[in-house]
Amino acid sequence: MSRLMLGRTLERICKAVLLLCLVHFLIMMILYFDVYSQRFDIFSRFNNGRGANNSRGAHHYYYNFSSGRPNTTFASYLATADHLLPSTKPEANHTPPTPKPLPPCPEVPLGLVGRLLIEFSSQITLERVQRENPNVTEGGKYTPPDCRPKQKVAIIIPFRHRDNHLKYWLHYLHPVLRRQKIDYGIYIINQLGEDTFNRAKLLNVGYTEAIKDAEYNCFIFSDVDLIPMDDRNLYHCYDQPRHFAIAMDKFGFRLPYAGYFGGVSGLSKKQFLKINGFPNEYWGWGGEDDDIYNRITLNGMKVSRPDVRIGRYRMIKHERDKHNEPNPQRFSKIQNTKNTMRKDGISSLMYRVVSIKKYPLYTNISVEIGKPPPRPLKG
Ligand SMILES: *[C@@H]1O[C@H](CO)[C@@H](O)[C@H](O)[C@H]1NC(C)=O
Ligand SMILES: *[C@@H]1O[C@H](CO)[C@@H](O)[C@H](O)[C@H]1NC(C)=O
Ligand SMILES: *[C@@H]1O[C@H](CO)[C@@H](O)[C@H](O)[C@H]1NC(C)=O
Ligand SMILES: *[C@@H]1O[C@H](CO)[C@@H](O)[C@H](O)[C@H]1NC(C)=O
Ligand SMILES: *[C@@H]1O[C@H](CO)[C@@H](O)[C@H](O)[C@H]1NC(C)=O
Repeated sequence: MSRLMLGRTLERICKAVLLLCLVHFLIMMILYFDVYSQRFDIFSRFNNGRGANNSRGAHHYYYNFSSGRPNTTFASYLATADHLLPSTKPEANHTPPTPKPLPPCPEVPLGLVGRLLIEFSSQITLERVQRENPNVTEGGKYTPPDCRPKQKVAIIIPFRHRDNHLKYWLHYLHPVLRRQKIDYGIYIINQLGEDTFNRAKLLNVGYTEAIKDAEYNCFIFSDVDLIPMDDRNLYHCYDQPRHFAIAMDKFGFRLPYAGYFGGVSGLSKKQFLKINGFPNEYWGWGGEDDDIYNRITLNGMKVSRPDVRIGRYRMIKHERDKHNEPNPQRFSKIQNTKNTMRKDGISSLMYRVVSIKKYPLYTNISVEIGKPPPRPLKG
């Protein structure tokens, strides 16, 4: 009787063991085939119902086994998997897969077209420019998707009442900058009120506000009415301060004089700080660019320029702006750069930001920069 009982018990145990083996085998098979699937899915399966985010798209352990049959054994697979257990690296559950590091952008970008046809007769709307530049992000920013640029460029435009010019500028420049693989942001520095315009002070404001917004290391200062006619004129910074607009149509596509530094120029952060930024005391039209040129040469740098066939620009024709009359003091002031540049510059800049608005194609920074000091009495 007891022998029979023992026999039956043994039989049951054997059956149980067999069943266990079968279940074990099945699990092994499932795990084994999992190795061949593209996504490493085990942990999510085990995490079910624990509140972990296990939607398929959220998986971050990625193995590329598509290059032929895997040489990985099941044992090595588990060994690798051990390091990735969520318990040991809980934060890994939410970090995206580390993207492949992009290659550095080439010195001379591919895809430039050279000479451009620039005209100002067709009507441009901001909606159209926006449609044509879908990858420009809020505030007028862009980063090349396929390479890593060395520089981060803030493009600064002194501005007042030139909305129509701005449309042309954005229409032409966004595509050029994109082809040039520039990592950039566009800043319009809008002088509020109707006091005398002060271009160089607005540029100082642009520098100061741009570095608050992002880690720029290159600054390009452009008038709103100047459009480059050749996309090989690369909008980034160089070993020396750069003058871009060397051949404008209004000057017969020639440099008007050797020390000309007007229109479009670019300085690295280091170069800009070395000259204490730009002067704040040039009210009205003219002179400030010559003062900047003097600052550059007095600080032992020299201006770099593109080839005259490439540095060509079209200027949008316009009436002279109101409240930007030629500055009568400009000739005497530029004689004094050496004495004034240490006290007058980015170190002495004072202004008040009234609003910062980020539009799809540019950032609009409106500022109060004061007005010129009263004219000294004659005599
Ligand atoms: C899970 O991840 C998906 C995709 O990343 C996300 O849309 C969803 O909100 C997440 N759910 C939870 C509960 O975290
Ligand atoms: C997987 O590897 C193969 C061969 O190395 C490669 O061609 C393929 O692009 C890779 N797949 C992915 C998605 O990275
Ligand atoms: C798998 O193959 C690669 C080269 O194809 C080799 O470097 C690696 O050591 C192999 N791994 C195993 C576990 O055999
Ligand atoms: C915008 O970016 C996407 C993704 O990087 C790319 O496929 C597309 O061609 C870009 N569009 C333009 C107009 O550059
Ligand atoms: C910039 O903002 C100011 C202040 O709101 C506004 O008056 C001006 O029209 C704006 N200019 C541009 C070009 O967006």
